[in-house]
Amino acid sequence: MEPKMLANPSMDFTNLLEGDLKEEVMKELKKDPEAQTANSPESKLSRISTEASVGEVTKSVNSFQYEAQNLDVPVVVVTSEIHPWSKSGGLAIVAAQYAYNFAIRGHRTMAIAPMYDNYDGAFYQCTKSFELFGGLHEVHYYHHFQNYGEGKGCDYVFIDHPSFRRPGGLYHNLSDNQEYSDNLFRFALFSLAALEVPVAIELGGAPCYGGRVMFIANDWQTGLLPVYMVHRHRAFGNYNHARCMYVIHNLGYQGCYPLRLGLPGTLQYDNFAQLGLPFAALGDLLYQYPLHERTFEGDSGETLNLTKGAIQCCDRIVTVSPTYADEIRTLEGGFRLHDFVATKSYFLVGILNGIDASWAPEKDKTIAETFSAEDLSGKRLCKRHLQRKLGLKEDDDACILSFVGRLTSQKGIDLIGSCVHWIMEDHKDGLSNVQLVMMGNGEEDFGHMLRWAETTWKGRVCGYWGFSPQIEKEIIAGSDFFLMPSRYEPCGIPQMCAMLYGTIPIVHATGGLKDSVKSWYTEPDTSTGFHIWPLNEDSFKKVIFDGLHLFFREPEEFNQMRRRAMAQDFSWSRAIDDYERHFDWTIADPPFWGRP
Ligand code: GLC
Repeated sequence: MEPKMLANPSMDFTNLLEGDLKEEVMKELKKDPEAQTANSPESKLSRISTEASVGEVTKSVNSFQYEAQNLDVPVVVVTSEIHPWSKSGGLAIVAAQYAYNFAIRGHRTMAIAPMYDNYDGAFYQCTKSFELFGGLHEVHYYHHFQNYGEGKGCDYVFIDHPSFRRPGGLYHNLSDNQEYSDNLFRFALFSLAALEVPVAIELGGAPCYGGRVMFIANDWQTGLLPVYMVHRHRAFGNYNHARCMYVIHNLGYQGCYPLRLGLPGTLQYDNFAQLGLPFAALGDLLYQYPLHERTFEGDSGETLNLTKGAIQCCDRIVTVSPTYADEIRTLEGGFRLHDFVATKSYFLVGILNGIDASWAPEKDKTIAETFSAEDLSGKRLCKRHLQRKLGLKEDDDACILSFVGRLTSQKGIDLIGSCVHWIMEDHKDGLSNVQLVMMGNGEEDFGHMLRWAETTWKGRVCGYWGFSPQIEKEIIAGSDFFLMPSRYEPCGIPQMCAMLYGTIPIVHATGGLKDSVKSWYTEPDTSTGFHIWPLNEDSFKKVIFDGLHLFFREPEEFNQMRRRAMAQDFSWSRAIDDYERHFDWTIADPPFWGRP
């Protein structure tokens, strides 16, 4: 993973581009010097303080069905990244959607994130100190109110501390991709500081939110939030009316730190003792590696696992798709916590993420031509535009397969790599007029694979090692198939975007991919894509073959599938209804008080 800090408005985004694409973009910029300020992704980030920029991209038609019982309970989203201020992955997008949608739904809503940079329009509120790691640490609170109209809006709160401001990624340095050595400190401080906001800070002079709130904590970076809430607040009578939902976006990252540093019998450094938690919390956070995984004789295998602490102490666990809620209880999907998660099954639920309303091909101004299920002619233009832009042969009849994602084996890019030859080869079966587009940031080896494929099949393959949100959109709009052979995928967002743009997803039947794509193999009449199962080279090739067969030999069938895909409802309203249902159930249940 190569997390990027996108919050610096002065950054020249062309640095992110490489090769032909860079030339192309530079050419466009030369033609229109305004383009960089008006259209570049970073320029959008620099306009965050205007009210239009967030509202514009997310305004949606709301159709909430569920009659929520607790709309008067404020929602406090706590996240280590939030679009458009900071982003390393899907979490930033989903956190931004929580902030917007819970506000629109009618909750008083706050979103708290670290302040990784100076943010326009965020105003200083106050300073507080927290004792951690043997010292007193001052954090500054900043506030930005985003107005969504009709009396609704979101309070964005940014927590400022020097340890959040790093030139590299949000969690890793970019030189050797290692986690920052003080991440435990950084995110303990963040969680502690975030817990103060509802009860102790008047934002923009408005009254405090108070102790009756619904926290939504996301992934390991906020794993200590429910732990601090239970052991430092509830234990003293605070936050008894609050609840904390812990959302798992990816259980592959848990926030694990050694309990002690130093060999047995020598002077030891104790990480737990630095966190300001009572002894009772140790059992909640402690994970002990099985014997065979320990590294040296006398290694006790004891670690602090922030995700385990969160799962133990929160009031409800949410995964970002229903299938993922099942998978994390299996050996393959649980990353060692499967049994532990299974003991919490009674308050575990999966809710599929939505995608924001700007993904609508009939009114999308950022693609070459708008189109709809009734009139797909615009999609042909998008295809031609994409071919021209990426240096592919302009050919209406070619079938474009594309991949956009992080270049890691989780996303299955290695599998695409081992099938590239087969995909591009002429098998004399009349299905070989294929073009392939691959884009993403990530591990070097895969980056080289992208470039190798591009040079080997010049004009038929574009391998772009880098990332641009604008080009992602153009790829999704102009392609015929979208490949997501992810080994696991808690939810996945691009496959949903692809479907709405009439681009047929070919996905591994896992997590949110399985939940959002209806497979041609199991339900041909309602299908919106293809499932790969099991995930290996042979079955991947077989599915691509079947997809190409449908595309070239049964175009009418293919177009029907396209239309069905475009008619799917991936709106946030549906997801928010589910969240509301679980708010109600969670509030009706007693809070978690700690283990007996
Ligand atoms: C993580 C998951 C991805 C999910 C996203 C948002 O990035 O890997 O599958 O879509 O979080 O929840």
